[in-house]
Amino acid sequence: MELAQEYDREVNSKIHYLNFSKKSTKGSKQSPKYFQALAPQKNLSTVENQVFELKPSLPVYFIRPNSIKRAAKFFLENFCTNKHASDILYSVKSNPDTSVLQHLFKSGIKNFDVASMSEIKLINELFGDEVKMYFMHPIKSREAIFDAYFNHGIRDFSLDSLEELKKILEVTNGAKDLGLHVRLSIPNSHAAIDLSGKFGILPSESISLLRKTRNAAKRLGICFHVGSQCMEPTEYRNALNITKEILEQSKVKLDVLDVGGGFPSSYPGMTPPNLRSYFDEIFDAINHLNLDKNCRIWCEPGRALVAESGSLLVRIEARKKNMLYLNDGTYGGLFDAGFPGFIYPSKAIRIKNKDPLSLIPMPFGFYGPTCDSLDSMKGPFYLPENISEGDYIEIGQLGAYSRSIRTNFNGFNQNLQIEVSDEPLVSMYQEVEERKEERLGLINRTGVLAQLYFH
Ligand SMILES: Cc1ncc(COP(=O)(O)O)c(C=O)c1O
Repeated sequence: MELAQEYDREVNSKIHYLNFSKKSTKGSKQSPKYFQALAPQKNLSTVENQVFELKPSLPVYFIRPNSIKRAAKFFLENFCTNKHASDILYSVKSNPDTSVLQHLFKSGIKNFDVASMSEIKLINELFGDEVKMYFMHPIKSREAIFDAYFNHGIRDFSLDSLEELKKILEVTNGAKDLGLHVRLSIPNSHAAIDLSGKFGILPSESISLLRKTRNAAKRLGICFHVGSQCMEPTEYRNALNITKEILEQSKVKLDVLDVGGGFPSSYPGMTPPNLRSYFDEIFDAINHLNLDKNCRIWCEPGRALVAESGSLLVRIEARKKNMLYLNDGTYGGLFDAGFPGFIYPSKAIRIKNKDPLSLIPMPFGFYGPTCDSLDSMKGPFYLPENISEGDYIEIGQLGAYSRSIRTNFNGFNQNLQIEVSDEPLVSMYQEVEERKEERLGLINRTGVLAQLYFH
């Protein structure tokens, strides 16, 4: 009870300043009132309230702690089987923001997939010995392996070649307490972002590496990644069938089977099947693998845990026909809207004393603020036909792969961050909850879902 109260106190609206050096704010031409308005305030609990109150000229990240809590709970309760112990490793790269990490931690996520020394230091500074880290980048520098093993107590490393195995063993002086995880390259045929070309050893070449790694490892693992935003649950089954063949050929005993990330979020035009169907495929396929009962099952979700918890608020600086010039773009928080061309749910907010926003939607494309013409996003993003300069757009599903990809190109990296408690524009987890409630006759589903895609 006490913990829950503490959590609730902390999920009250919080505002952070991002990328304001002390020097630049002091000498800034912004009026002091502008900054006073950004001090933490209570009861400003929705995106709309905050926009009306602050009228921000900078892009703003809105974080929804309740949504993080709900996603973490879903994974912790559903990514499990009574046959094996399981662990959920949050993939820090998807959003390394400290408040997001803290909300995940408070929601029960205690394992972190890290890929660089900065991520390791960050997690160590935040949580120390209360969490475990796993260095799951298959290609690491010798310095990073040394620092991870000797200074940060990391014992688990992934690898996809004999050279990397040798490197890890040399740097750790042939340590006998290593968890070594061989990353397989498996088809990424149903993912929005294909990761199979860059990392992983081909299954046909993996047998000898697995045997050599078995000899060196205290814990042997196999890991793979089906590609980010995987739209087809059976893709995990395919990967696990390949794993089955490899295990039968190599005859090695496996201590960890790591099905990686790739779990999807929901975007316009990319509505994935229910997340539970992914877990069903995984655990059913695992039942056919004849694993030792002590073999642990891991997953490394990034996107699915945090995407829907974050929105990015942008302001329209100009409109030319159906192109909107925004104060953020592909060099900022909208990288994936450029290439690979993700479409995000968008909601217009008008605070100026103008005509109300039209109820008729039309498709728009976006330009970002930098001078590069590559800074463009074709969408289509459906918004009211009379949207214009000075209007705001809340762009949803940007809790993953947005903050972590920003650059300072052209000096446009300043942004704000505010915590809110309203619902995300789109939610996979809310739908799960609603279906539960619907079964109990508590809500009228059509009424609630009507507001998801169009505002
Ligand atoms: C090794 C590894 N694990 C997990 C993830 C997280 O993937 P996702 O955000 O698709 O769940 C990634 C993403 O690139 C990755 O490279």
